[in-house]
Amino acid sequence: MKNYSDLWLGYKKKTHNRDCKNLNKISFTGVDETDAVAVNASEELKTGLKTMLDIEPEIVFGTPGVTGTVSNGSEILDNEEYRISLSDEGIVVEAKSGTGILYGAFDILRTVAVEKDVIEAYGKGIVVRPSNPLRMLNHWDNMNGDIERGYSGESFFFADNKIVINERTRDYARLISSVGINAVVINNVNVKDAASYMITDRYYDKLAELGEIFAGYGIRLFLSLNYASTIEIGGLDSADPLDEKVIAWWRTKMAEVFDRIPTLGGFLVKADSEGRPGPFTYGRTQADGANMLADIVKEYGGIIVWRCFVYNCKQDWRDRKTDRARAGYDNFMPMDGEYHDNVILQIKNGPMDFQIREPVSPLIGGLKKTNQMLEVQIAQEYTGHQIDVCYLIPMFKEILGFKTYCSEKDDSVADIISGKTLNSRYSGIAAVTNTGNDYNWTGNYLAGANLYGFGRLAFDTELTSEQIAEEFVRMTISDDDDVVRDVMSILLPSRAIYEKYTCPLGIGWMVQPATHYGCSVDGYEYDRWGTYHRADHLGIGVDRTDKGTGYALQYNEPNASMYNSPEKCPDELVLFFHHLPYTHRLHSGKTVIQHIYDTHFEGYEEAKGLAGKWDALKGRIDDEIYENVRERFERQLINAHEWCDQVNSYFYRKSGIPDEKSRTIW
Ligand code: GCU
Repeated sequence: MKNYSDLWLGYKKKTHNRDCKNLNKISFTGVDETDAVAVNASEELKTGLKTMLDIEPEIVFGTPGVTGTVSNGSEILDNEEYRISLSDEGIVVEAKSGTGILYGAFDILRTVAVEKDVIEAYGKGIVVRPSNPLRMLNHWDNMNGDIERGYSGESFFFADNKIVINERTRDYARLISSVGINAVVINNVNVKDAASYMITDRYYDKLAELGEIFAGYGIRLFLSLNYASTIEIGGLDSADPLDEKVIAWWRTKMAEVFDRIPTLGGFLVKADSEGRPGPFTYGRTQADGANMLADIVKEYGGIIVWRCFVYNCKQDWRDRKTDRARAGYDNFMPMDGEYHDNVILQIKNGPMDFQIREPVSPLIGGLKKTNQMLEVQIAQEYTGHQIDVCYLIPMFKEILGFKTYCSEKDDSVADIISGKTLNSRYSGIAAVTNTGNDYNWTGNYLAGANLYGFGRLAFDTELTSEQIAEEFVRMTISDDDDVVRDVMSILLPSRAIYEKYTCPLGIGWMVQPATHYGCSVDGYEYDRWGTYHRADHLGIGVDRTDKGTGYALQYNEPNASMYNSPEKCPDELVLFFHHLPYTHRLHSGKTVIQHIYDTHFEGYEEAKGLAGKWDALKGRIDDEIYENVRERFERQLINAHEWCDQVNSYFYRKSGIPDEKSRTIW
């Protein structure tokens, strides 16, 4: 018995495709049995079809190198692409690589699992290509086994400063490759203590083994790197990227690292951020630091993913000119075009830090000559800690669909990170995740929808939130149509509800600083982190217009003018960009203060509604799943109640303006 769940790879019994003869024979074209990934694909198909339909398919391997061109010769397949069609004898999966075959195999398994008809799905033939070159997970696991912002148990990569490889490792690779993830950073971006020694003999063998397991599922292993390794483990007194001694040390080190971990894809670097070392110490730019490392890893096919989360975290709250939101753009835009071609800048979706509502970072679409990668967070750091239900895919869809106006066409965030807009080879999307040793990997079963959904969306940005939710529920919880409908009706509005009972109108940050869970309206108001709501008895909001910090002007037109004007700015972000009186009327027709009251009362009521819907699932779904989420809903309601009453009381006391509907405000 495993001590963890299979999540969506649980392969429940089906009847729907039972008589489908095509499933008896599946041909892999383009690869042979020597391809480890294709062999894993064949194993997965056998397990899945046996469990779901009691079918034992014959799997036939083709010859490598013969295809790559699909049967009609019209299309050359890319490396991770696949084609599925039906022949007289069965199903044919064609690909240029084992990874393409694996994705094709998971496509077939998904089709069966969600009870789509095989003939309908593949009768006309489909060619599927991932939307993004890099589809990455960033784990913030520390080597002592803790996970930074972990809400689903301890690390399964590390314990007691050692690398752990066990049954769960392979199943993790299966799980994430099944949704199309192709790159994983296993250690925290804050690389300290034992993690600094990751690139030493102490860990090479285990890392090589881990990299091999991942490679068997089309996943490349990446590591977070300590920028000051030359000092921490190299015995030098500098980490200056232009210092010859530093460069020579890295050259020798990287030769060793790639020799010992041949599957390594490269590194993720958090430099000059929240106390981490970086090139600024030596008067150098972020480009100097990134390029130095990138030039060295280039000969091994490595890439450097360099984070743009660089800001002053020792600000004075009295200072109204310094604006943390501006920092990414100010620090990285001036070197646009200077980053070398195996550097990717990884940019958090918003300019602050994963709040429930932020505008899209103006760096995305600001940078016009630089490889870009979007960073989102599925670890629910500010969005309910996997206690509160918060299905994040609708938010990711909004971000991906945002028009940056960086070019005449193909200017959305999705276009940019896919590589289409700038014709970039290296680009994509990364999610900070915290899957841990909990039985169900993600703490709350419903939080699994974010892990599932992130992968599916990264692979195919055209999928809708509804499609993704439905697939997840059918595969993970139940394929009973009524249950599917009921669980979807919990997931889909959950982000909007969380937003309603927490931070209004884009203001963010009213959380408990110690944990980032629970309400504390002034928790971040008088500190050093650049995170203020600036509420007084007349109004609230941060003036980021041309008369304030000027942040709004970092956007391309017409976004800059839209955000700069309180009349044109969308309601949901109006307090992010403007300091407004409580009596200011929003587009919705409500005043700011009435909006705060209404959304908080509604949010709490709607959260109760979600919990009620979940209660009604008792006996209709697996008890373990039911109990797991029920217990969390209990905590969510306490949380939502506190948020509602504290936010409403705070603003009533500040403004003295009563609720039009005379509800109880404390
Ligand atoms: C946030 C988060 C930190 C994390 C940081 C980052 O500030 O609270 O835990 O290290 O983001 O993204 O690097």
